[in-house]
Amino acid sequence: MKKILVTGGCGYIGSHTIVDLLQNGYQVISADNNSRSNPQILKGVEEITGIKVKNYAVDLCIFDDTCAIFQENPDIAGIIHFAAYKAVGESVEKPLLYFQNNLDSLINILRCATEFNVPNFVFSSSCTVYGNPDTTPVTEDTVFKPAQSPYGSTKQMGEQIVQQVMNSSTNLQSILLRYFNPVGAHPSNCIGELPIGRPANLIPGITQTAIGKLPQMQVYGNDYPTKDGSCVRDFIHVSDIAHAHTLALDFLLQHKNKSNCEIFNLGTGSGYTVLEVIDVFEKVSGQKLNYVIADRRPGDVIAIYANNDKATTELNWHTKYSLQDMLQTAWNWEQKLKKEQSLFDGKKPELN
Ligand code: WQD
Repeated sequence: MKKILVTGGCGYIGSHTIVDLLQNGYQVISADNNSRSNPQILKGVEEITGIKVKNYAVDLCIFDDTCAIFQENPDIAGIIHFAAYKAVGESVEKPLLYFQNNLDSLINILRCATEFNVPNFVFSSSCTVYGNPDTTPVTEDTVFKPAQSPYGSTKQMGEQIVQQVMNSSTNLQSILLRYFNPVGAHPSNCIGELPIGRPANLIPGITQTAIGKLPQMQVYGNDYPTKDGSCVRDFIHVSDIAHAHTLALDFLLQHKNKSNCEIFNLGTGSGYTVLEVIDVFEKVSGQKLNYVIADRRPGDVIAIYANNDKATTELNWHTKYSLQDMLQTAWNWEQKLKKEQSLFDGKKPELN
């Protein structure tokens, strides 16, 4: 079994990806300092797969500590690098925290991949690299517009760092995966999203309002040039995103890649407005959502959704979950968190 290091393995997409990797015959170790995640989530991974995954609670910004993982695991065949801060709003308030954390950790991981000769590298990127695109859907060749936040800048810079390290290396090959809007929870309801503090993202904002954790939800603007005035996004189930990582590793291990840095959009190829999502949620949950229309949120992209033809044809990746499934699994998870409050409340990771 090929051993894969998943950094940020206790996070939302990281934990779902570990489940998919294990179910597809990979051996997995995690590296996550739990500053923004809860190690309890690996118990949920074990519930689903029957496999206990070891997590190295290491700050990847410390090179020697990061190296120690590779010294202890000389058989790592590939790396999936998720570990990064990802709150758009916080990145605007604390840009240097984001540049230091997201780029130092990436550079250290790439140094170890080079020095320990780990040939396969998958980088967690984001549709945010496109900025505010002139036309949609966006393809992997769509020219970047300026990033709308320091978080987005760290993803644009991160992609450039990976590409240039690959160009100067003879033994590394990589894939950049640009996620659109990951939402929902694993169908088993054993793992899901664990937002820290008040959620910035739409779906946890909806489910926490619906369950009564938040008094009311705000729709940030309904005066955009879209079908109903609210923003358009390409929402995609986190388990569909997870499976794309397994396919990406298979692709590299089978040397199907044409270059040593391939890029894939991970979106459904369909855009839905914020108000359409709320409408579907109300049907799924059987209850009205308490929301108001508020001012636009600075930095919001008006409309973006993916052309995912490259991933579907080259990775043979096909999304399984509909928008209804995404919202149903998110709602199931929120209801479970309420019932089993102690499950994850023991350790509340603090925002730095
Ligand atoms: C979606 C839409 C909001 C909350 C960012 C990053 C992306 C990824 C996901 C990391 C927007 C509206 C939201 C609310 C609202 N990050 N909204 N009320 O900004 O598209 O993407 O998070 O993986 O890389 O760029 O996601 O869910 O915050 O917002 O009206 O309470 O929902 O204005 O139009 P976003 P989001």
